[in-house]
Amino acid sequence: MWDGFPGHFRSRVVVVLFSSFLCSLPSKFFSFAGPPGPPGLPGAIGNPGEQGAKGDPGELGLPGNKGPPGPKGEKGDKGDVSNDVLPAGAKGDQGPPGPPGPPGPPGLPGPPGGRRAKGPRQPNTFNRQCSGETCAVPNDDTLVGKAGEKISEQHSPQAESMIASIGNPTQVLKVTETFGTWMRESNRSDERIWVTEHFSGILVKEFRDRASLLNGSYSSTLLPHYFHGCGHAVHNGALFYHKGGSNTIVRFEFGKETSQMLKLENALYFDRKYLFANSKTYFNLAVDEKGLWVVYASSVDGSSMVVAQLEERTFSVSRVINTTYPKSKAGNAFIARGVLYVTDTKDMRITFAFDLLGEKQINANFNLRTSQSVLAMLSYNMRDRRLYSWEDGHLMLYPVRFLSATLNQ
Ligand SMILES: *[C@@H]1O[C@H](CO)[C@@H](O)[C@H](O)[C@H]1NC(C)=O
Ligand SMILES: *[C@@H]1O[C@H](CO)[C@@H](O)[C@H](O)[C@H]1NC(C)=O
Ligand SMILES: *[C@@H]1O[C@H](CO)[C@@H](O)[C@H](O)[C@H]1NC(C)=O
Repeated sequence: MWDGFPGHFRSRVVVVLFSSFLCSLPSKFFSFAGPPGPPGLPGAIGNPGEQGAKGDPGELGLPGNKGPPGPKGEKGDKGDVSNDVLPAGAKGDQGPPGPPGPPGPPGLPGPPGGRRAKGPRQPNTFNRQCSGETCAVPNDDTLVGKAGEKISEQHSPQAESMIASIGNPTQVLKVTETFGTWMRESNRSDERIWVTEHFSGILVKEFRDRASLLNGSYSSTLLPHYFHGCGHAVHNGALFYHKGGSNTIVRFEFGKETSQMLKLENALYFDRKYLFANSKTYFNLAVDEKGLWVVYASSVDGSSMVVAQLEERTFSVSRVINTTYPKSKAGNAFIARGVLYVTDTKDMRITFAFDLLGEKQINANFNLRTSQSVLAMLSYNMRDRRLYSWEDGHLMLYPVRFLSATLNQ
């Protein structure tokens, strides 16, 4: 084994090896490994993560400043000598328009994009099973079997509070924003009008009255959180709205500038899984003769429209009602005298109604409008019994006619 070493040399090697073995004994009795080395160099940079999905586009920016006037038009041709009273030649043609002004400031940021990859666009079918003639019947058929008998048999006490028809609209104002919400206090004798523009933002405009709305003089209030959608409501001095990117409803008290929050569990609130796709709204707040409500889509089944009744004093949910109606069939909705009315996907007719107190479907099928423009907002105001709407920048009012006028307050 030690072949190749001279005798004296061999014994020295053995002594050195043995003593170094002894030295290492006390500290490393059960281990022959040395002390840990210095930390290694950092690893290579990993591959970049997958790209997130594209967010919703932001709203258009404001229009640019007016361009400078164009060059002077060429001198007009000399007028013919004639017997006309004109003493000189006719005026020259107008010059060509000036170059366009610089682009306006960027628009508001779009709502946050979803995390998942963008899937194929879901067609907003009115009725997946329908074909040909049946499609033309706008009334809902998902609940017919269940609710049909109930409707024909029962004379619900709610019947008198049902809407018979909706009258012809009047236009109050035309603005440039496609999306927005305009609101009036439903309870108090308060002439103020509030406006939020776009389906996302942080400002609410307050107009002292209708005349101020028409001449454009307002004051702005900064909200504590960004709003999302076109489903806000003003009630008893507070704005109720959806805090963007969350499942939270905010109650913001005007004047006091204080706010409270209410979380709604099991609600869809992001990833463009809108309650109303036409108006990019996840939560629709409503105030009527029976209380304060929030309409939203259930995340439990990802489809059903549910309505939470809120207790105003404590700002809490007192009841959650499952209408079972799929949001894919709904254009927009409003609540009047305790009944939820839902429009078809073109927002032209009311095709579904649900008695929120009796918790059952009611037959309803009547016209709302003839226009096919984007309906950003639809809301009933019990104070003047009118529907407020925002249709591609047209702020409209529709009179509501109930079956019985005797219940008018
Ligand atoms: C309307 O306002 C009055 C006075 O502020 C209040 O007493 C009443 O409770 C309000 N009604 C509703 C339905 O909120
Ligand atoms: C707009 O109308 C309101 C109410 O009539 C009035 O007080 C205000 O001075 C008007 N403002 C402008 C800029 O015309
Ligand atoms: C609502 O009712 C439908 C039909 O019964 C059911 O499929 C759905 O899960 C319910 N949704 C909620 C949130 O209760």
